[in-house]
Amino acid sequence: MIQVLDKSFEVFITKEELSKEIATLGDQISKDYKDGDLVFLSVLNGAFMFTSDLMKNITIDCEVSFVKMSSYSGVESKGKVDELIGLNGDLSGRDIVIVEDIVDSGLTIDKIISLLETSNAASVKVCTLLYKPDAFTGQKRPDYVGFSIPNAFVVGYGLDYDQKGRNLDMIYQVREQKKPNKDMLNIVLFGPPGAGKGTQSERLRDKYGLVHISTGDVFRALDSESELGKLAKSYSDHGNLVPDEITIKILESEVSKHPEAKGVIYDGFPRTTAQAEALDKFLAAKGTEVSMMLSLLVAEDELKTRLIARAEVSGRKDDADPKIIQNRINTYNNSTAPVADFYKSQGKLSQINGVGTIDDISDRLYSAINSAE
Ligand code: IMP
Repeated sequence: MIQVLDKSFEVFITKEELSKEIATLGDQISKDYKDGDLVFLSVLNGAFMFTSDLMKNITIDCEVSFVKMSSYSGVESKGKVDELIGLNGDLSGRDIVIVEDIVDSGLTIDKIISLLETSNAASVKVCTLLYKPDAFTGQKRPDYVGFSIPNAFVVGYGLDYDQKGRNLDMIYQVREQKKPNKDMLNIVLFGPPGAGKGTQSERLRDKYGLVHISTGDVFRALDSESELGKLAKSYSDHGNLVPDEITIKILESEVSKHPEAKGVIYDGFPRTTAQAEALDKFLAAKGTEVSMMLSLLVAEDELKTRLIARAEVSGRKDDADPKIIQNRINTYNNSTAPVADFYKSQGKLSQINGVGTIDDISDRLYSAINSAE
């Protein structure tokens, strides 16, 4: 895949395919005009590369002229007047083959042919490397066609996208990008353990009608007797991250349970840059994307106090032990914080002060969401 300006393109016709087809065209034209008086009119700019390779495969006597369509505002007539620049020499009685890179609507060829009407040429034919029959609305269909192609934008081998890409040595086709569904609100809620993600997620879920997926809750709810459950638990009980492959599988199956969702709050996911990349891919395949990351900022001492207090109510093992708490905070700082940079580089990071009353923090989150919409 390559990038030309703002678009991605993928290989469509390779160098080998081009040279094989151009050799065939050259043979055919050489046979057809072996008794003729042949002049090629190569239409600039796009046809320069094709013309060069085609000429190497022409084995009969011929001439080559390079012409360019130009339109200018006429002095007397209204609208534009077309002219063919670069046409030199007398064409009367001669056989003309117009060489084009691409025939799309066919408008250019029709104009060129009408401008050649006064030339008294013996014959006028058209040879084009590419032809888009589905886009064609013209009068004159091309006589020699290298490749009939679908009606999608192509670049390379002389063809340009906004003047770029002409130098590419093969033909590339634009890659249709699915437009992300901006109506879906996919929020990554981020923050160290004890930052209040769970509480705030529930509020965001209710206010915006979202589905709340907490990977932590999902892990804890896994059947502790199942293989996946045992595996996930063996990591999370010690404050370690469950490996990416397991987490991503679990998350994908959770998201797929809610096909009608207006959006999702991802709470506790992604925790590594690899997971963030996997989430981007997964959402792109569904025609949507992460709308924003909301990152709750809370100082470490405050986190520890909150977690110890929470353990008394919830009985969560990983909240009660200061060693495990410290390990979780360290893990967050080391491997999870870079995820914020990942979203920052996409312009999707909003940092929210996570200290204050629950209502204060909710209000800050709401205003970050509303101002991004
Ligand atoms: P027409 O529509 O047949 O008159 O083609 C007009 C011109 O549009 C061609 O000579 C090309 O310069 C340009 N064009 C049409 N389709 C493409 C494409 O897919 N890629 C690059 N240029 C194109």
